[in-house]
Amino acid sequence: MCGIVAYVGNKQAYPILIKGLKRLEYRGYDSAGIALFNDEINIYKKKGKVANLEEYTEDKNISGHIGMGHTRWATHGKPDDTNAHPHKSGNSDLAIIHNGIIENYAPLKEALINEGHVFETETDTEVLIHLIEELQKRDNLSIEEATRLALTKVIGAFAIVVMDKKDPGKIVAARKASPLVIGIGDGEFYIASDATPIVEYTNQVVYLKNEEIAVLTNTGEFSLKTISNIKQTPSIQELDLKIEELEKGGYDYFMLKEIHEQPKTIADGMRGRLSAEESWIRLGGLEEFENRITKAKRLIFVACGTSWHSGMIAEYLIEEYARINVEVEYASEFRYRNPVLDEKDVVIAISQSGETADTLAALEMAKEKGALTYGIVNVVGSSIARLTDAGSYIHAGPEIGVASTKAFTGQVTLLTMMALSLAHKKGTLPKSDYSRLLAEFENVPVKIEKLLKSCDEQCKFIADKIASASNALYLGRGLNFPVALEGALKLKEISYIHAEGYPAAEMKHGPIALIDENMPVIVTASNMSSYEKIISNIQEVKARKGYVIAIVPEGEKEIKKTADHIIEIPETEEIFTPLLTVIPLQLLSYYIAIIRGCNVDQPRNLAKSVTVE
Ligand code: G6P
Repeated sequence: MCGIVAYVGNKQAYPILIKGLKRLEYRGYDSAGIALFNDEINIYKKKGKVANLEEYTEDKNISGHIGMGHTRWATHGKPDDTNAHPHKSGNSDLAIIHNGIIENYAPLKEALINEGHVFETETDTEVLIHLIEELQKRDNLSIEEATRLALTKVIGAFAIVVMDKKDPGKIVAARKASPLVIGIGDGEFYIASDATPIVEYTNQVVYLKNEEIAVLTNTGEFSLKTISNIKQTPSIQELDLKIEELEKGGYDYFMLKEIHEQPKTIADGMRGRLSAEESWIRLGGLEEFENRITKAKRLIFVACGTSWHSGMIAEYLIEEYARINVEVEYASEFRYRNPVLDEKDVVIAISQSGETADTLAALEMAKEKGALTYGIVNVVGSSIARLTDAGSYIHAGPEIGVASTKAFTGQVTLLTMMALSLAHKKGTLPKSDYSRLLAEFENVPVKIEKLLKSCDEQCKFIADKIASASNALYLGRGLNFPVALEGALKLKEISYIHAEGYPAAEMKHGPIALIDENMPVIVTASNMSSYEKIISNIQEVKARKGYVIAIVPEGEKEIKKTADHIIEIPETEEIFTPLLTVIPLQLLSYYIAIIRGCNVDQPRNLAKSVTVE
């Protein structure tokens, strides 16, 4: 988390930095700050959103052709003006922005205090810039050499940008674990946590590799080495990102835009990979390893948040259709559990950003233990995409709303293709069923389009009825249990209503005690295989006066008699229902959050890309 942007060249840096910070705000919005070089290094920083910083700098000197900006998600030190980045060295010659955590900051700080350094903030970042200053002073080093040496002494994750008043035409950028991209312009460079602040200026980029340090100058020089001092050659890539994808396109919020993009993004995820007419699924990344995967002892999905819910859907699908043993793990638990793993296991990471620190670390551990690693990722060129042995992109395009929507359905689409492809390869799914399912799969985007239209007003209406609730319960069985978890997560993320997702049958082992007339219970009841059972669960809720909102298949009659509201989804094969049932849950959360006056795209305390443990 935390967003980094920097510029060195001949343009005015301020507008580039502010615009870039707004694009990166999804990574954290506790505070924002910039440093601009103009004879001096001028630093301006403010608690809160980038807009606060913009207002604060209205009457300030904002000229300068070199500068850097930061939007923070607080780790060390409370979110206030003082702890906001950039941070200065003790002599005020150096400035730094940092994304990540310096784990050994405490002993480093103590040693620096003993050398006479005085600290103004509670941050780990300030320790790093003082360390760079100390090394520079001690041996009269260049800024790049002092930075490199300092980085050999820190433990943790970082993406940093450093500037030095004494060496003003230059910016030093380095990374370990946290991402950093360098855009190459005409005698100028743009540096950022991801490509979104860069895309409108250049499509030539270099993704900094782990433990690399770059020096970029306003005369167009770009030198690159590892932190251990081995010269590297930058590998320039072309960006495949369009500026329109980063705009709201007429919607009030990115989340709403992204919800409505799903018919297209799901179709994009299938394009060239599935043909019902010719009865095939081809996932480039999978083909090479399909043999090893179908013979794997276990497939272990590792993920966090929404991506973990997608993994749970994959477990149901792959076990059901391909008959391969699947486990789904929270990456943060898995990485510290010393799991039994070997080369017969396949570890599959699911991640929208491709940067989640715990998921990355889980993959690294799996690699060390000899497992094959596979990545299911949205952000092209991200760390997970580069680390894994193979993988598939979901092709959902940039997701900017902090609450994940189109990435979730993109992941589920990809995982459903994966399950069907593995099943076909293993021969566990009769050919006729395979063809029938592929034909229906191609209809799913159109059905979602129809559903978005048919349920929108209804979701607004129901949102109005339940927006003042303090709690909500989401229930589902089978494939719709992970959907219930995802529905509950969406609601708590953006509306701050406490919500829990539960397997419908488990309700009677605890949550039923919470049910009264003030408890909305949202039931995803589209699975016909457990239809009778879910009707009984709904009756159990109604008997306790719960307020039931049920998502049911088109034309359903029984639940209609009992539930307070029903939302119908177009008829489809059960395997595809998660792609449909989640849509009204996303819209419901969105409208509830709007009624409650919440900032849907930037919910409090959250960040989209969690690059710290
Ligand atoms: C954060 C985001 C969630 C996301 C999770 C995992 O918590 O707010 O929306 O599901 O990280 O992120 P990833 O990028 O790995 O899917």
